Amino acid sequence: MAQLKALGGTSDILPGEVEGWQRLESTARQVMALYGMREIRTPLLEEAEVFTRSLGEAAEIVTKQMYRFEDRGGRTVTLRPEGTASIVRALIEHGLDKSGGLQRFYYLGPMFRAERPQAGRRRQFHQIGVEVFGTDSPHQDVEVIALLVRLLAAWGVSVAKVAGDSGAVLVLNNLGCREDRPRLLKQLKTYFLEHDGGLCADCKERLGSNPLRILDCKKERCHTLAKGSMTSAWICDACRRHFDQVLKGLGKLGIRYEHDRHLVRGLDYYTRTAFEVIYPGLGAQNALGGGGRYDDLVRQMGGAEVPAVGFAVGLERVLLALGKGAGSDGPASSGGPVFVATLCAEEIPEGLERAEALRARGIPSVAGLEPRPLRKQLDQANRLGCRWVVLRGQQERAEGKVAVKNMESGEQSAVEEARWLEWLQDRLKS
Ligand code: HAM
Repeated sequence: MAQLKALGGTSDILPGEVEGWQRLESTARQVMALYGMREIRTPLLEEAEVFTRSLGEAAEIVTKQMYRFEDRGGRTVTLRPEGTASIVRALIEHGLDKSGGLQRFYYLGPMFRAERPQAGRRRQFHQIGVEVFGTDSPHQDVEVIALLVRLLAAWGVSVAKVAGDSGAVLVLNNLGCREDRPRLLKQLKTYFLEHDGGLCADCKERLGSNPLRILDCKKERCHTLAKGSMTSAWICDACRRHFDQVLKGLGKLGIRYEHDRHLVRGLDYYTRTAFEVIYPGLGAQNALGGGGRYDDLVRQMGGAEVPAVGFAVGLERVLLALGKGAGSDGPASSGGPVFVATLCAEEIPEGLERAEALRARGIPSVAGLEPRPLRKQLDQANRLGCRWVVLRGQQERAEGKVAVKNMESGEQSAVEEARWLEWLQDRLKS
């Protein structure tokens, strides 16, 4: 029988690895709390229209990457390719777009895109993101970017302070407002029509559907051609001032940035500020995270006029950036559970009792539930990352004692039966 395997581009996260994920998640929750962000959870499965209406029917994510299918009721549903549109849907559905004031959310969880898998590009991947609704202030853009920088730093990825420093780089651009967009598209169209001989077949099509996407093309010739395409002549004064204030605000917080006039991002809903954090060592998929302002999206999806700004970071890429195995030293570093070895079948109930006594004090523990030779049980304890093993040989039993072994030092102590729990608890505290 053929062996069953996880689908390409999806991965199991096994014990030993999962601790690194948990660490990223718990650090993220702490940083989110520092900024007064509150968690929101939306379904993984949505009506496809949530994304076609927000990202645009012509967006690559929609045309090429969305897992879209008919459910048993004949509805067209999709596995969410990103979080922003779902959260806007939830905001409108629950009337929060009309409540006035600020709404500050964070979210974490899996997203799905049917891309060709490669390092840092998965079909199921995980994002942690932030969305702030209710203000178009440039200071809000600055705060959201500062949160992203602090989050990365808390994980151990620092954003370079000076040019040429190793580390991540913050890149941003001004995409203007909805009044600016026709001027921008016209400028791009004129430019690329003059140079269309150099464009790839996809970009020739984009020239008709959405010339902005040409700036995103990874093909060498299109990329080189695109470099001459952007000026800032089409940006209105209000958007220019907004962006200047964002840059000033970042400067005040000591956050270094690069202004890249060709950064447009792969999603169509952005207005004004768009940004990415790039980690140059990651190869082709080097954006750790990205986001920007999307002042028209809530209205576009049927809600009130509510400006918003946010970002999402990809956890797989953060783990890659931290280096293979970094951020996942496994349970051993946190001490792991206490292993209660049981040397013969009669001892098993007693072992279970000891494990329960440990758990009652909040100490994680695992009991050997099969009578195996001590050496095998110690192997198992090692595999589970246990620093302490509790056992009872014949001698300890005769003396009314319990042996407690430190797996790191190899040291073993015989402790009075009545005191072993306190004794071990003291060691675990120190
Ligand atoms: P995005 O740039 O499409 O933006 O994705 C954000 C991050 O998710 C990327 O920088 C990357 O780290 C990660 N990511 C995306 N696709 C993959 C993949 N196939 N495999 C692994 N990682 C991936 C958004 O999703 C927007 N919703 C961000 C946002 C929030 N904008 C405003 N608010």
